[in-house]
Amino acid sequence: MSAPLIQARALTRTYHPGGGDVHALDGVDAVINTGEYVAVMGPSGSGKSTFMNMVGALDRPSAGELVIAGEALSAKSPDQLADFRNRQIGFVFQQFNLLPRTTALDNVALPLLYRGLSLNRRREKAAECLRMVGLDERMNHHPSQLSGGQQQRVAIARALAGEPAILLADEPTGALDSQTTIEVLDILDQLTARGITIVLVTHEKEVGARAERRILFRDGRIVEENP
Ligand SMILES: Nc1ncnc2c1ncn2[C@@H]1O[C@H](COP(=O)(O)OP(=O)(O)OP(=O)(O)O)[C@@H](O)[C@H]1O
Ligand SMILES: [Mg+2]
Repeated sequence: MSAPLIQARALTRTYHPGGGDVHALDGVDAVINTGEYVAVMGPSGSGKSTFMNMVGALDRPSAGELVIAGEALSAKSPDQLADFRNRQIGFVFQQFNLLPRTTALDNVALPLLYRGLSLNRRREKAAECLRMVGLDERMNHHPSQLSGGQQQRVAIARALAGEPAILLADEPTGALDSQTTIEVLDILDQLTARGITIVLVTHEKEVGARAERRILFRDGRIVEENP
């Protein structure tokens, strides 16, 4: 249970907007173990999303190393990175990014197209994931017929459909009121009990308090653990 799943060593990401250097990540060392539920916290601009983009293989570091599930991401071609992302990572964002004219079931089933599964098998898997987030009664609803919390649960089901090892959630409750925030956090508690590793970015103390561990970023560095 406590094997390292995500290992960042001197992870650095420098942006060069308009000539100057922005040190979005400035030598981050971090280890997240299999099955952990970690909250990434810190002020706006401290590098939280940049860190998530690296872990999710959406972007590459300028320097340093990231090893996830024993795989060194720097050694991978763009195609291999995309394949890694599809196999290992599920993403949830503040905006749910659901297709508006598509049922909850098909929103969850669609990304499974790339797995080469039959339509029936995709829908079976999607239904199973919607059941996991407590939406079995709403599978044929469109996003506009669902509350914000329910839409985010559909997005979580979509992230789970590919059976990722890691769920990355960047401000998943940022667009939700306090009641629906609790709904979503309850789902994350259930997922962590099933063994998935969760890394969640949040500004909100009460949200971060639900995780097992907190990492505090400031100016592109980790400045504190469990504030
Ligand atoms: N594509 C980019 N080009 C240039 N600078 C960027 C880019 N993305 C992020 N930055 C800069 O890198 C720094 C870290 O940004 P990041 O988005 O990681 O912060 P954050 O902690 O997620 O903030 P927030 O809480 O507002 O989402 C900021 O100074 C930001 O302006
Ligand atoms: Mg951010």
